[in-house]
Amino acid sequence: MTYSIDLTGKVAVVTGGSGVLGTSFCQGLAQAGASVVVMGTTLEKAQKAVESITASGGTALALAANVLDKAALEAAYEAIIAEYGTVDILLNCAGGNKPEAMTAPDNSRSFFDLPEDALQWVFNLNFMGSLLPSQVFARPMAEKGEGVIINISSMSADRPLTRVVAYGAAKAAIDNFTQWMAVYMAKEYSPNIRVNAIAPGFFITTQNVRIVTNEDGSFTPRGQLIVDNTPMGRFGKPEELVGTLLWLVSDGAKFVTGTIIPVDGGFSAFAGV
Ligand SMILES: NC(=O)c1ccc[n+]([C@@H]2O[C@H](COP(=O)([O-])OP(=O)(O)OC[C@H]3O[C@@H](n4cnc5c(N)ncnc54)[C@H](O)[C@@H]3O)[C@@H](O)[C@H]2O)c1
Repeated sequence: MTYSIDLTGKVAVVTGGSGVLGTSFCQGLAQAGASVVVMGTTLEKAQKAVESITASGGTALALAANVLDKAALEAAYEAIIAEYGTVDILLNCAGGNKPEAMTAPDNSRSFFDLPEDALQWVFNLNFMGSLLPSQVFARPMAEKGEGVIINISSMSADRPLTRVVAYGAAKAAIDNFTQWMAVYMAKEYSPNIRVNAIAPGFFITTQNVRIVTNEDGSFTPRGQLIVDNTPMGRFGKPEELVGTLLWLVSDGAKFVTGTIIPVDGGFSAFAGV
């Protein structure tokens, strides 16, 4: 067995690939030699990520598809098969939250007033938005008996975080789904199909920048709480997630399935005292 991470010849599909964390993941996969399909909500954004990958010598394809639209995912799948012939790695990275689905700091927007459509939107994006792409893009893995699926969980999955009720519930469902799918693929298809999740700690990205920092760059009270509860005393940098991804998709993790790996500066280990 060799222990270097060489993904040459592998095809990796990354939903949310043009997002902040997604872009780092795509760069890492491309640098390890994979052909990367960057999926975004718009072709323009996906194309930007592809340009930065090809500029540094990688191979990538931009596609647009809503992760909640099965027909759009099927069309993307056909385009991937036409270009690369298969899918070896699926990274379900699309996700997000919105203020309307969160209680407000002073409870001015209470749980009792959260609109159903906002709650449904967040739950669907973060849960069905990983389940549906797995139905579409993991099919060739089942057919050839080989492949890797990585989901993106969150610190809100294991112990709920305040305010983010639908997001936390959806990410908890992602942990459950990761384990379910790991067992299903290993037992029904092949032990060489592995399913794991990465649970990032706190990274400043588009979806949370205004929740954790003020206009002047200082932390909001919630941002400060996060830093205070992260033993390493800071937010993570997107590139600090990449090593865990590359390990999980490589043969170095050949006996690893059904796990949720925190990359969190110690947040999940800390009881606050
Ligand atoms: N930033 C953090 O601290 C953090 C922590 C834990 C988990 N996460 C998770 O990491 C993942 C990436 O988030 P990010 O922080 O990079 O945020 P981001 O907003 O930069 O990226 C999210 C991506 O998902 C895409 N997306 C949203 N709705 C979509 C849809 N319906 N169809 C297709 N794509 C869609 C967006 O276009 C974007 O590219 C998400 O699942 C998020 O929940 C983030």
